[in-house]
Amino acid sequence: MEKQVKRIGVLTSGGDAPGMNAAVRAVVRAATNQGIDCVGIRRGWSGLISSDFVTLNAASVSHIINKGGTMLYTARSQEFMDAAGRDKALATCKLLGLDGIVAIGGDGTFRGALALSRQAAEHGINLRVVGIPATIDNDIGCSHYTIGFDTACNTAVECVDKLRDTMQSHERCSLVEVMGRHAGYLALYVGISVGATAVLIPEREVDFERDIVEKIRRARLAGTTHYMVIVAEGAGSAMEYSRQIHEELGIDPRVTVLGHIQRGGSPSARDRETASRMGYESVRVLREGEGNCVVAIQDGRIVDIEMEEALQMVKHFQMDRYQVLEALTNSRGPDF
Ligand code: F6P
Repeated sequence: MEKQVKRIGVLTSGGDAPGMNAAVRAVVRAATNQGIDCVGIRRGWSGLISSDFVTLNAASVSHIINKGGTMLYTARSQEFMDAAGRDKALATCKLLGLDGIVAIGGDGTFRGALALSRQAAEHGINLRVVGIPATIDNDIGCSHYTIGFDTACNTAVECVDKLRDTMQSHERCSLVEVMGRHAGYLALYVGISVGATAVLIPEREVDFERDIVEKIRRARLAGTTHYMVIVAEGAGSAMEYSRQIHEELGIDPRVTVLGHIQRGGSPSARDRETASRMGYESVRVLREGEGNCVVAIQDGRIVDIEMEEALQMVKHFQMDRYQVLEALTNSRGPDF
């Protein structure tokens, strides 16, 4: 007979993402509405090591569904990477009587969760973990979507639209660097959404002549007098590309690094709804005695993927969307 789940922990770890609070809310509400206690662990895994936690009830998570950031704070914990650090974390789990933990974050968060669960099993402790993918980068291999990506895209699109106004007035070239760490999902999605002249992503080796100079020249021939270039931070430095454009084309681009503004803001409906469904599913998994899985999105549906398998999955970049971007750019010569 499966031991009844009495208490679960929830934490947020890694880079924060809009929608994390919606996921925390869903975990707490789904658990407490089923008579399961919920403990909020603060500052990611380090909160387990330092016993930094707070009992959460349905009221604790009122009015946070629309708030960016994470009410539980987040941090990256070096100490948790070692077995000794995880032993301290396990002591807290035992003290709290946790039957399971919902870990909201990225691949690194999930690797830590799996290591903790395995170390618990070595001590005869049954501690099941469930991962919820949350990062604005959308670069988690097992999931077609990660919480925060849509909100970050909307934030970046709003910023680029504003930049375009002034670039159009001054007939200038704008280079906009967006986040994504090592992935180009944000850059390509935003590039298509703003009708960028060019988009540089780490998944496609940058050829300065082909990917920037030729595109600006063609746009110029098509009668365009301002140019929007989106640069993924993993595809090089917008400042460096600006210097090269100045040298090659004699124009004086303006550079904007959007940076951490993409990490904040009220989560979009898509992120709130996705986070709510993922939080609900994570509690269902634990309540039914399952776990050590990631609640992922595949082809628009929520699926539970065994955590070790999930951590080995690789997401193939949708390069076909790059063709869409190029096909829709105003780069034909004038119709004579
Ligand atoms: O992983 C999310 C992310 O925002 C990346 O896009 C970015 O490169 C990184 O975090 C920034 O990390 P930090 O917030 O630690 O500076």
